Amino acid sequence: MPVDASNALLRWYAVDKRRLPWRAEAGERPDPYRIWLSEVMLQQTTVAAVRPYFEAFTSRWPKVADLAAAPEADVMAAWAGLGYYARARNLVACARKVAGELDGIFPDSEAALRALPGVGRYTAAAIAAIAFGRRAVVVDANVERVVSRLFAVEEALPGARERLYALTDALTPEHGAGDFAQAMMDLGSGICTPRSPDCGRCPVAAICAARARGEQERFPVKAPK
Ligand code: ADE
Repeated sequence: MPVDASNALLRWYAVDKRRLPWRAEAGERPDPYRIWLSEVMLQQTTVAAVRPYFEAFTSRWPKVADLAAAPEADVMAAWAGLGYYARARNLVACARKVAGELDGIFPDSEAALRALPGVGRYTAAAIAAIAFGRRAVVVDANVERVVSRLFAVEEALPGARERLYALTDALTPEHGAGDFAQAMMDLGSGICTPRSPDCGRCPVAAICAARARGEQERFPVKAPK
C-alpha cells in the first residue's frame, strides 16, 4: 500500500479501533495468552458471540497455567455454546503444552506457534503479529474482502486465496503488522462490509480499485456453487 494510504489506515485505527477485551490499551503490552485465547475463539465465531466467553474464561483462568490445570470437562462446559468443540479440546492440549513444556511462555515465531495444537496458518500469524510485533501476514475473511476490493481481484474465491495472501503480504508493513492486521479486520467488519460498504467513511477509499469503478459490492468474486 502506498505510504500515505498505509498511514491513513493506521491513523484511522488509532482513533476508531474497536475496544475489545483482548486488545491492549495504549502503552500496555499485549498478553500472548489473551491474544491466543481470543484468536482461537474467533476462528469460526463472531466478535459479539466471543466477547462474553472471553471474559468468562479470563476471569476464571487468568493465566495459561490456570487453564492448563483445569479439568478438560470444566473447559468443555465453559465452551458450550461456542461450537466447533475440537477447538476446546485443542485449547486444553495447547495450554498444557505451553504450561508443561514451555515454562508457560508462548513461542513468538510463526513456525513454533504452528506446532501448537489448534494453531494453523491464520492463528499463528495473528499471534506472532499482534502479541509479539512480528511481521506476519494475517488473512481472514474480512481481510480477503478488503484486499479483493482494493485491487479489484477478478479471480474467484476460493481459488483466489493464495493471490489475496500474496497481495496482503505486499501491503503488510515491516513494523506494526499487528495493528495493520487489526485495522484491516476492523475496516472489513465495520466499513468494508459484504453489503453496502460505507466507502464515504473508508480511510483507504482513495486507493480502492473497486470503488474507482463503483463496483465495490461485486468483490470478492465467488465461484458459482
Ligand atoms: N477476528 C479475529 N481476530 C480478530 C481481532 N484480533 N480483532 C478483531 N476481529 C478479529
